[in-house]
Amino acid sequence: MKTAITELFGIQHPIIQGGMHYVGFAEMAAAVSNAGGLGIITGLTQRTPELLAKEIARCRDMTDKPIGVNLTFLPSFTAPPYPEYIAAIREGGVKAVETAGRSPEQYMPALKAAGIKVIHKCTSVRHSLKAEKIGCDAVSVDGFECGGHPGEDDIPNMILLPRAADELTIPFVASGGMADARSLVAALSMGAAGMNMGTRFIATKEAPVHANVKQALLDADELDTRLVMRALRNTERVLKNKGVDELLEIEREKGARLKIEDIHEQVAGVYPRVMIEGEMNAGAWSCGMVVGLIHDIPTVKELIDRIMAEAEAIIRQRLTGFLDGKFEITAARAVA
Ligand SMILES: Cc1cc2nc3c(=O)[nH]c(=O)nc-3n(C[C@H](O)[C@H](O)[C@H](O)COP(=O)(O)O)c2cc1C
Repeated sequence: MKTAITELFGIQHPIIQGGMHYVGFAEMAAAVSNAGGLGIITGLTQRTPELLAKEIARCRDMTDKPIGVNLTFLPSFTAPPYPEYIAAIREGGVKAVETAGRSPEQYMPALKAAGIKVIHKCTSVRHSLKAEKIGCDAVSVDGFECGGHPGEDDIPNMILLPRAADELTIPFVASGGMADARSLVAALSMGAAGMNMGTRFIATKEAPVHANVKQALLDADELDTRLVMRALRNTERVLKNKGVDELLEIEREKGARLKIEDIHEQVAGVYPRVMIEGEMNAGAWSCGMVVGLIHDIPTVKELIDRIMAEAEAIIRQRLTGFLDGKFEITAARAVA
């Protein structure tokens, strides 16, 4: 399958693995890239630009396929040294960067001068148009279903994707709620040129996280995510657990007076405790509603090959079949 996204990034399949804090290590990115997608190392999980340079080098030892790095621009008092992170990316020969959070505008000249393709993750049409205007090569349109930060507009992908298609001239991928071939074909139908997955990639053999995390994804369903930090306008979709219940209780008590300090224990330093130690009740960690569609732990290659084979079957048989008047009683079920 060739789309604007496979051509832009020089990859075989139009599938991207979104940056994920404490998941997007070299092992994860290399597995996705080796399977023909675009694997992405999470820049800020590496505490310094030097460590990012080492992680890129480690990933390069595991794959000779294109890889990307995620740079998340956080609203923080002490900003990470982004120019140095960009230098590490450039010197590591990485040609794709997924930006997220605040606008990457001030870093675009440096990224473009290094010949890096930039895909910015956006939760609204207006942010997508801004990304296009400042020279991003593509957009990852992240619907309300997504794991992580869905923004504050609450528009699900069924609306957001066709809206983006109507307005954008640069290519975009669908992000949030994507799990299988049905997601991919639906995304392509709504105008996207591929899909970005986060949560689904955690439930793979290669994902370098504690086994408890993968089990929690198998055990959970689509009703098990919660939205936290709404009052701070920093909404995050996370997997329900005891720490999150406490957090929500504090949020209920404080209401609009909530301050980030009030929930420090439930949000700060949680990722290493969950992803490395497997402490599943530690607090807030991102997880999408798509968890309801996760029922197995395949290798990344098995997952991507299955998606591509089933997508072909849906397009060539199911959809073309409808046009040819072949009536099907069964729904398009997932194989796993
Ligand atoms: C555990 C986890 C950590 C994430 N960390 C980041 C991050 O550091 N930066 C970022 O831009 N997106 C992050 N995301 C969002 C993903 O890149 C992706 O946009 C999102 O997971 C898509 O929704 P899905 O989970 O429904 O596939 C994270 C998602 C998860 C599940």
